[in-house]
Amino acid sequence: MRNADAARAYHEATKHSERSLRSNPHVLDFDNQPIPFKLYRELEPIPLPRDFTALAGPGLSALSAAPYHEAGIPSLNALSRVLYFSAGITKRKRYPGGEQYFRAYSNTGALYHVDLYLVCGELPGLSAGVYHFGPHDHALRRLREGDQRRVLADASGLEGQVTRAPAILVSASTYWRNAWKYQSRAYRHCFWDAGTLHANLLVAAASEQLGAHVVVGFADRAVERLLGLDPAREGALTLVPLGGAAGAAPGAPEDSELRLETQTLSRSEIDYPAIAEMHAASSLQQGNDARAWRDASRERELPPALGRLIGLNPLGDEELPQESLQSVILRRGSTRAFERTASLSARELATVLERATGGLAADFLGTPDASLIELYLIVHQVEGIPSGAYYYRRPERALELLREGEFRAVAGRLGLFQELPADAAVNVYCVCELESVFAAFGNRGYRAAQLEGGILGGRMYLAAYAQRFGATGLTFLDDEVIEFFSPHAQGKDVMFLIALGRSRRRS
Ligand SMILES: Cc1cc2nc3c(=O)[nH]c(=O)nc-3n(C[C@H](O)[C@H](O)[C@H](O)COP(=O)(O)O)c2cc1C
Repeated sequence: MRNADAARAYHEATKHSERSLRSNPHVLDFDNQPIPFKLYRELEPIPLPRDFTALAGPGLSALSAAPYHEAGIPSLNALSRVLYFSAGITKRKRYPGGEQYFRAYSNTGALYHVDLYLVCGELPGLSAGVYHFGPHDHALRRLREGDQRRVLADASGLEGQVTRAPAILVSASTYWRNAWKYQSRAYRHCFWDAGTLHANLLVAAASEQLGAHVVVGFADRAVERLLGLDPAREGALTLVPLGGAAGAAPGAPEDSELRLETQTLSRSEIDYPAIAEMHAASSLQQGNDARAWRDASRERELPPALGRLIGLNPLGDEELPQESLQSVILRRGSTRAFERTASLSARELATVLERATGGLAADFLGTPDASLIELYLIVHQVEGIPSGAYYYRRPERALELLREGEFRAVAGRLGLFQELPADAAVNVYCVCELESVFAAFGNRGYRAAQLEGGILGGRMYLAAYAQRFGATGLTFLDDEVIEFFSPHAQGKDVMFLIALGRSRRRS
């Protein structure tokens, strides 16, 4: 049994309840709002090509990517597209007081605290090095020269794909950029927001024929030192090896401390110690620890269904909408108002559920079909499915009815008293039995569970937009959601919530 005391305590302390919301005196200090970018003061940009046209495959078919396959060396064009469609700026909105940039992925509060870094050997058109990706000018900045992949291979305990990949993306959060609004809860958001970003990253890589694989187990300090992160303010979240067959990285990489000046984020920064403490408590010290961590396994059996089953019939490959992935990602946004009277069809919902839960290649899942996440639904308005509370039985592709009834008001309350969850056609809750994850993976299992919730949420966004309806991530009253779905959901916790439905046109 591994230690998970810190994760248990952090999760409990950052739950939302009506009481916690009412008693929190936090107000947003807009004069001290952090900038949503990491801007290096002295590094020259290396512009990336802007050929964004090639993500041509239908958006939905690449969504639940095939397991990692060893494909070749990414071209600079392919890398540029993967970065753009994961984390690039896809929309600008002008306001009287300024302009706001929106990204390819949804993000709590549009605060964009997660950055991508690239660690690569010699690539066509790009010399070996460690780079930061700047979405503001779609350019790389070189932080270190030379092939440093060995640092990541060692940190991951020689994880197979990390060791052989020609390029590895690393995601990391600068906490203050999210904690400004969400305080200590920002550590959850690291993984939610990285999750929606990774949903895009995986599908973009798949459509470039680049194998990709999410690695959560690595020795944190070695990775953070390589990227020059400030451990008090920033934390590495994932490694994603891209492509393969590059041959092992050479040894003896650079080991110097990296001190690069970045632009101040805001007038002052407030430290929420629970964040860095949770990151430290869930850190791994060495590559060997990472290897032992990912070798853990978690066995769970699906309990027999007690309620009525409604079989689902998702669209087959040949029936999927043909819109390109590029166009779906460019159109994606968070629905700001749902049309209460407009329903979804059962097939549309079935397709979202099936595509979102399709294989995920990740080091914390023994097989791509495994999952730490279960889906619970409140259906308001789906043709052929009576409104009520449901559990999605993934292997059987069926909804198990837990309670029939009209729950719009309840869903509105559970989704933090907002109209969006009440007006949507359906709310999907990504839920995890955390104790069994803790038993296998300890404190670090918390990162994996939150991340997988975010990836599933990000995939649901794309599956909804590909079918031309809307979606929005939402936050929630933690314990009340579980009470609502109990006794079925007893002992579990919510990792992510998304509402689906048809957007209401603004007059
Ligand atoms: C995990 C998560 C939770 C969110 N929670 C809310 C919410 O409670 N209310 C809301 O109106 N929007 C919510 N959003 C939507 C974000 O505000 C939105 O993603 C962000 O403004 C960026 O806009 P875009 O998704 O249209 O690109 C959430 C998004 C995510 C990913």
